[in-house]
Amino acid sequence: MPTNSKDRKRRHGALYLIALGGISIVIVAGVMALQPAPTPLDWIIRATAMLGFLAVFLTAISAVFMRELYQLLGRPFIRVHHVVAVAGLVLVTLHPVGVAIRSSSLRVFLPDFSSVDAFLSLGGRPAWYLIGLASLAALFRTRIKQSWRAIHYLNYVAFFLATAHALMIGPDFGSLAMRGVAALMALALVGVFVHKRLKRWRLTRRR
Ligand code: HEM
Ligand code: HEM
Repeated sequence: MPTNSKDRKRRHGALYLIALGGISIVIVAGVMALQPAPTPLDWIIRATAMLGFLAVFLTAISAVFMRELYQLLGRPFIRVHHVVAVAGLVLVTLHPVGVAIRSSSLRVFLPDFSSVDAFLSLGGRPAWYLIGLASLAALFRTRIKQSWRAIHYLNYVAFFLATAHALMIGPDFGSLAMRGVAALMALALVGVFVHKRLKRWRLTRRR
């Protein structure tokens, strides 16, 4: 591809990513407007939760559209995956930091193993560690070789814990519509997992 057209594609790609961020903010603001939060800190906790949840989802989904993303955005899959992942990591960190400030306690970072119900409703806590661990494994993948991929799969577990957490205690996930959206997102990730496994299995069989 000539450099000029490659540059143009990249510029358009950056605009698409910015537009995706803008659309996500508008959707989240719309959902939140239906149920206004009592304080600015509550707005921040809910907005970072929903945007972070969406960014983690989009990062995971991006793994299925490697070629398409390259064609559309003019950047290798890993760059796009990286940018959205970093946005997600920042947001899902600001979210519990907001909760810690609201409750004046760092205990909000401790997973609760007292019952299955408590563990799942506060499932964002373990999910936060799992996403961090899975991302670190990807960052150091050349050093830890094969095992990084298995650790990276923890992102799936994290997403399901975060979904349970949002459905069980999220003020914006009370409606049938939002519950349906969360269920569809989780189902789509099951699809991603199965699709990736089938693709790998076919590749290894061909060799
Ligand atoms: C929010 C954080 C992240 C999430 C939710 C996420 C999610 C995923 C998922 C679901 C896959 C497909 C795995 C499979 O089933 O085979 C994947 C693949 C991958 N991710 Fe991430 N990821 C995150 C962060 C990162 C980071 C920070 C990096 C790099 C530093 C990274 C690098 C990769 C690579 C190299 C692949 C392999 C693609 C392939 O060859 O199939 N990921 N990621
Ligand atoms: C230490 C980690 C975490 C803590 C302490 C935490 C805490 C909370 C709390 C207290 C709420 C209820 C919000 C409110 O009452 O204002 C909530 C909601 C939520 N959390 Fe977390 N969370 C954590 C991690 C995560 C992670 C990692 C994700 C996503 C990957 C996440 C996604 C959500 C979502 C989507 C909601 C629903 C927001 C809404 O309905 O507006 N949380 N979280």
